Amino acid sequence: IFSAIAMAPRDPILGITEAFNADTNPAKINLGVGVYYDDNGKVPLLECVQKAEAKLMEQPTPRTYLPIEGLGAYDKAVQELVFGADSAVIQEKRAVTVQALGGTGALKIGADFLKRFAPDSQVYISDPSWENHRALFESAGFTVNNYAYYDAATHGVNFEGMLAALKAMPEGAIVVLHACCHNPTGAELNADQWGQVIEVVRANNLIPFLDMAYQGFGDGIAEDGAVVRRFTATPGPLLVSNSFSKSFSLYGERVGALSVVASTAEEAARLLSQLKRIVRTNYSNPPTHGGKVVATVLSTPELRQLWEDELAGMRVRIKQMRDELVKKLAEKAPGSDFEFVRKQVGMFSYSGLTKEQVEKLRAESIYAVDTGRICVAALNSKNIDRVVDAIAKVL
Ligand code: LMR
Repeated sequence: IFSAIAMAPRDPILGITEAFNADTNPAKINLGVGVYYDDNGKVPLLECVQKAEAKLMEQPTPRTYLPIEGLGAYDKAVQELVFGADSAVIQEKRAVTVQALGGTGALKIGADFLKRFAPDSQVYISDPSWENHRALFESAGFTVNNYAYYDAATHGVNFEGMLAALKAMPEGAIVVLHACCHNPTGAELNADQWGQVIEVVRANNLIPFLDMAYQGFGDGIAEDGAVVRRFTATPGPLLVSNSFSKSFSLYGERVGALSVVASTAEEAARLLSQLKRIVRTNYSNPPTHGGKVVATVLSTPELRQLWEDELAGMRVRIKQMRDELVKKLAEKAPGSDFEFVRKQVGMFSYSGLTKEQVEKLRAESIYAVDTGRICVAALNSKNIDRVVDAIAKVL
């Protein structure tokens, strides 16, 4: 039975990490995966996380099963972070949240849920989008289409194209939107453009699915969550996946959540019951540790403040690396114009490097995604010169 099974291709992002791990060059640099590294090239273990873990260890608890929907304190903290503590959807009990295995796990629960209750809808993702969006929604059984998004000529958003695509979508279509820090392009809509998007989504009865994996890496926690709040101020369904992989540097703990907004508390209770069925038949219930750590940090004022400061530190360092990259490329590759890198928001830069140029970089043990996406958060004061020299060489 297995003899006819073909080899699957490497994952376009995590496959690069596999190749990076296999590289024996001590000077190798991984600009592929979306992971934040500090200036020493290390994935940080945040102080707020260490303090929360120490606090939890003061009173060790048995590792019994969590409820199917996850730790109550975690789900509550997530709702307050994602929707705002004073949100009407929380007060009116119209939002339901299930703890999920990272942002990817949240998207998958949402995709399975939508396939069950909107089986004929098609999914629309931005062109381009995070590589796993298409694969994930296709694996849930959907046909996945693109809507216009990136304009390579301006390195910004092709807003007219995007709006026209939204207007042309059939009623009930599922639109996946990046709430902030667009992955992979770093190109963002402005507040006015978001207003227009929300208007079309609601007028045409589309189903918005906001993916928020990088809250806090753009302009700030509340600023990056603003779009979610603006959506909740309009009537209609809403799904939001969020992740603490990056913002808490808890990649391996797989801590994320799916939140769904219903029109009444009674409807919300029915939605939760169905979400629980999906979780139960996939992995039963989520793991305890990461959820406890995040809930502890978010609900303890000093730890929460520490987290906000540490997250701000990561955000600022990424912006400094953007500036350095632009300055150094201007010196080393005169005639090139990378000014746009400064305007991009979040962890990534859609650098404009071609697949061939990315391959040449790889020959020098510098790893990027084939599309030219580089993780600016992996640059540091020690490796940036080598990266700039290598880019200047392949241009
Ligand atoms: C990325 O885009 O690199 C991250 O979101 C990690 C992943 O799972 O792909």
